[in-house]
Amino acid sequence: MSDVIDFEVRGAIGVITINNPPANALSFAVDKGLHEAVQRCTADDAIKAMVITGGGKMFVAGADISEFGKPRPDDVPELNDVIEGIEASDKPVVAALNGLALGGGLELAMSCHYRLAAPTIQVGQPEVKLGFIPGAGGTQRLPRLAGVEAALDMIVGGDPIKAQKALELGIVDELVEGDVVARAVEFAEEVAAKGGAPRRTGEQTDKISGVDKSVFDAYRRKIAPKSRGLAAPYECIRMVEVAATLPFAQGLEEERKAFVTLRDSDQAAAMRYMFFAEREVAKVPDVPRDVQPMKIASAAVVGSGTMGGGIAMCFANAGVPVTVTDISQEALDAGLAKVKANYEGSVSRGRLTQAQMDERLGLISGSVGYDGAKEADIVIEAVFEDMDLKKKIFADLDAVMKPEAILASNTSTLDINELAAVTKRPDKVVGTHFFSPANVMKLLENVRTETASKETIATVMQLSKVLGKVGVLVGVGDGFVGNRLLGFASRIAEFMVEEGALPWQVDKVLYDFGFPMGPFAVSDMAGVDIRYLSRQGQLKLYPGRRNPVLTDKLYEMGRLGQKTGKGWYLYKDGSRKGEPDPEIEKLIAETSKELGIDRRPFSDEEILANYLCALSNTGAHVLDEGLAIRASDIDVIWLYGYGFPRQHGGPMFHADLVGLDKVLAKTEAMFQLYGDWMKPAGLLKTFAAEGKKFKDYKAG
Ligand code: 3HC
Repeated sequence: MSDVIDFEVRGAIGVITINNPPANALSFAVDKGLHEAVQRCTADDAIKAMVITGGGKMFVAGADISEFGKPRPDDVPELNDVIEGIEASDKPVVAALNGLALGGGLELAMSCHYRLAAPTIQVGQPEVKLGFIPGAGGTQRLPRLAGVEAALDMIVGGDPIKAQKALELGIVDELVEGDVVARAVEFAEEVAAKGGAPRRTGEQTDKISGVDKSVFDAYRRKIAPKSRGLAAPYECIRMVEVAATLPFAQGLEEERKAFVTLRDSDQAAAMRYMFFAEREVAKVPDVPRDVQPMKIASAAVVGSGTMGGGIAMCFANAGVPVTVTDISQEALDAGLAKVKANYEGSVSRGRLTQAQMDERLGLISGSVGYDGAKEADIVIEAVFEDMDLKKKIFADLDAVMKPEAILASNTSTLDINELAAVTKRPDKVVGTHFFSPANVMKLLENVRTETASKETIATVMQLSKVLGKVGVLVGVGDGFVGNRLLGFASRIAEFMVEEGALPWQVDKVLYDFGFPMGPFAVSDMAGVDIRYLSRQGQLKLYPGRRNPVLTDKLYEMGRLGQKTGKGWYLYKDGSRKGEPDPEIEKLIAETSKELGIDRRPFSDEEILANYLCALSNTGAHVLDEGLAIRASDIDVIWLYGYGFPRQHGGPMFHADLVGLDKVLAKTEAMFQLYGDWMKPAGLLKTFAAEGKKFKDYKAG
């Protein structure tokens, strides 16, 4: 019938199968082929009803996101017209949900008159996660099938639900064990034989009548804390409200308008970009898919401190047995006790059952010395940042570990090439840089040494997935990728404070932009001493540069952040919420005076632009140095490691949106003020001159 639509007639039933791997996405070709197949069935008197299903494992994962922004060819009908054509059909149409039905896929299913599903499938409207609302009738049909509250949960939340739940809610009519298409054909025959008008979703009103309107405002209030700066969730609520208020046809029109506006917005462009960036990040150009990763059946972690314990939990959470080692029984006991307390906290918050906790703890064993590392397939060193100590540990571990096992360091600052050089397995040495708390944070920077083999790289990239992390491959260099950007941008934030801004103003600007916290609140949370010590290390790497002085002063005053009740902010009575502190304001004013700076007001716009410019220019340096494979990898790192708001796509995407010529002009101006921290990167200069975007960058 067409490349992407298979068609067959079984008795009096036309069976239309969408075959567009890998996701059966509703591409232009599918929309066209599907429309033609439905028309063909409508025109053929011998066909009494239709079944629509998906080939392979999926029903339909939605509209084809890669075609967004491309012009629809003249001969391809709009998806909405295809869907409305199906609902309007006088011949019954049955959806056979063989697999996932998401977005446009669920909308297609809801336009069919009946839905049968395999018990293992899921259905959902995830559009909100791409920065827009369902645009093919989902906001109008789902409340009619499932009721307003369930529709709000699904459309505003964006998470899929299981088949059984879909059955209970009335989205699905029947769950079918076995051949769902065969049963759908039988079902279609039955309804065709009964005759009468098919059951159209758009005509149903039971579940949207008499809805208490206060539910919508309550929902707006409920999502507010997590929806700062986002447009789509609120439009999702408004459209469900429309479904409960206006006639169906008018509702569809309203939905269309809102969908188009949001789909074409910068927020949606950023979120669509992130969708592909998150998938691209797993691909390493010189490590093709046929490089087999090693199987990791067991692990060991050296060091039972906060990081070591957290890393061990990651393995246990993924069902991989792990041994934690430390130099003394006392240290080990203390470390394991913290792990246990951490799990107990999850159980008391209802995030884990007691049985799950027991099972996970059962996978974690302790050992003093390196015996526990002997049999492990991977050993991760997580002791404190001291090169000589780590070298000794690496040499000792190398002597006892299985020859084929991988030896990784969790260092966030040191040169892992040097560690590889003290072993007899340099091809099996890598960095696995977890972020704190390791059992919570999704980011994992996998650090490629000069000597690591392709198999080792494939293994740690695969392991990231097993551990439920987003693994990003980076190179060895100061701060790798994430912390390099943070280190440079946080200095710029501090310079702005020396010159006239206040920490809480900077933090509020970044919070309002969508970050969970600004750089000063982060410093207080992580510990001002941590930032101080990392800067001390960097002073050697970047001699002669202007150094911000306030962090040093805070450190010397013992204002180390939340843990001492005072840092950039004041934390009263053990509260984690800091308040602006007049003492700090005084300190800042005195410091500006000492530095001979006349304080001047900073606008919020200037603060934001300067901070983001520092991030993207440093990101361009990182690309110049070959520390990241692509600009979008840097964006993924900042999304998962530092809470960069997804709706702005990451520092590199944001710079592309602003325009690299403008970013370069700003960088040059800041270079005059702040010296080499803002030295324009070669890539930024070249791309700005050539009118390119960071997303055009290809490594090598
Ligand atoms: N459009 C285009 N490509 C898609 C796609 C879609 N809707 N859904 C998945 N793909 C592609 C992925 O890019 C990936 O391609 P690659 O192999 O070249 O990298 C491939 O399918 C497999 O996807 P995953 O790697 O993500 O595989 P998983 O098995 O982990 O996940 C999935 C499958 C759950 C379907 C996940 O891909 C997903 O969440 N897809 C997006 C679903 C979605 O957001 N649908 C709504 C689209 S917008 C819409 O429908 C608008 C409508 O309201 C008008």
